[in-house]
Amino acid sequence: MRIDIIYNNATHIHFLTGFCMNLAHITRFSVIPLVALLGGVLTVLSACGGSSAENANPLSAKAQLGEKIFHDVSLSASGQQSCASCHESANGHAQANALPAQLGGVHLTLQGNRTSPSLRYLATNTAFHFDAEGTPTGGFFFDGRATSLQDQARGPFLNPLEMANTSIAEVVQRLEKSAYADAFRAVYGQQVFNQPEVAFTFMTEALALYQKEDADFNAYTSKYDEYLRGKVTLNAQEARGLALFRDQTKGNCAACHPADKAADGSHPLFTDFTYDNLGLPRNMALQQNANPAFFDLGLCDRSTGDLKERTELCGAFKVPSLRNVGLRKTFFHNGSFQSLEEAVRFYVQRDTHPEKWYPRKADGSVDSYNDVPALYKANVNTTEAPYDRKWGDMPALSDSEIQDVVAFLLTLNDGYVSTPSRK
Ligand code: HEC
Ligand code: HEC
Repeated sequence: MRIDIIYNNATHIHFLTGFCMNLAHITRFSVIPLVALLGGVLTVLSACGGSSAENANPLSAKAQLGEKIFHDVSLSASGQQSCASCHESANGHAQANALPAQLGGVHLTLQGNRTSPSLRYLATNTAFHFDAEGTPTGGFFFDGRATSLQDQARGPFLNPLEMANTSIAEVVQRLEKSAYADAFRAVYGQQVFNQPEVAFTFMTEALALYQKEDADFNAYTSKYDEYLRGKVTLNAQEARGLALFRDQTKGNCAACHPADKAADGSHPLFTDFTYDNLGLPRNMALQQNANPAFFDLGLCDRSTGDLKERTELCGAFKVPSLRNVGLRKTFFHNGSFQSLEEAVRFYVQRDTHPEKWYPRKADGSVDSYNDVPALYKANVNTTEAPYDRKWGDMPALSDSEIQDVVAFLLTLNDGYVSTPSRK
């Protein structure tokens, strides 16, 4: 039998039994919540329903190294920046502040190019590919240029705008000086530091394993998860928001941010890992945008160079998960919005009220989709709800419906149910 303790709100604590329907989970974890309970710890295992059965286990030795690396500022040239600086667990492993991009580099004075996304719910993401229908799918970063979490982890250490090491050897030398260098040797071999490229590959393996194994990255502890488990009900506004989120003639959000359980019962990720061109407003708070000839073109212009010919993909960026979006203070790859409500309003009023979102040109006309060069403006998605409206049309959502959708989005924050803490 398992016993779980759920925080329903600040004042009520519910003791539940038989929480998981999945027998495998029950047998595997039956003893852990009981132990936690006896220890006087208020805790709950939320593995059920999500695909996170393994999350209740302690981290492997490699993932424990990954956790240390993830938080180690001494691995940066500034001595002040780690992965966690831009991906804070208190903010869904995304950036904590409202800046359009974080400052990095040797003196932490150089502005990056894009907002820091959440690192959660990426465990099932794949390498970039075109699916059977030719839809660009998968990949890591907003432009899918990294093939896996491990491949991705190479980037920040060497990015001159981030942790700013000048070589792999420099990264590995810093690791060798760390307090956990002996633990790294114990896991990866006494001679591991003699071959920097090998040691670096192991560092990135450890980082990927940490992100896959640590329960926080795949927690499924939101109110919405509890709703899917039949443990709580949504309030009237949240329920209206969910209906609008799903409705193909209204929000149609679920077309790219799926909201329903998969056939295998796993909980939705609120991303299908595809790409779209939203025609976002240009954010002049990004220094790179001071140059009128500069455009962040996303998919077609990624550094791997493999999609250069696919100009129809210029301006497309990866669909992020909306889990924990309520913890963000800035939205979209260019940080063009600082409020969730405004981000949702943009979706439905982009073309009905373009003057709200874009500056005017010299001739007085509205400069729509001004973060996409003229040549590629036709790539902006204008055919799918909610952004299939024209000037003068009714927006797909009214103001009160926008608020309903926002209320629903706030049910996607992890931590509604508490998870066991290892630290
Ligand atoms: C200076 C801030 C900064 C630091 C430090 C940083 N990141 Fe990021 N991270 C970003 C930004 C910005 C992006 C998106 C960049 C892009 O799409 O081009 C990103 C993207 C990612 C992604 C891809 C997420 C997705 O949905 O595809 C992963 C994974 C990630 N970072 C992990 C890490 C790890 C691991 C480290 C440490 C080795 C790290 N980051 C250090 C800012 C940072
Ligand atoms: C056709 C696909 C598509 C549809 C439909 C769609 N989105 Fe998105 N969504 C995206 C893409 C792509 C991005 C990232 C765009 C970027 O950063 O350039 C995004 C980003 C977001 C973000 C910002 C997340 C972050 O981490 O910054 C929010 C909020 C959001 N969507 C909410 C919604 C809501 C609410 C709806 C319905 C009203 C909706 N989306 C409908 C594709 C879609």
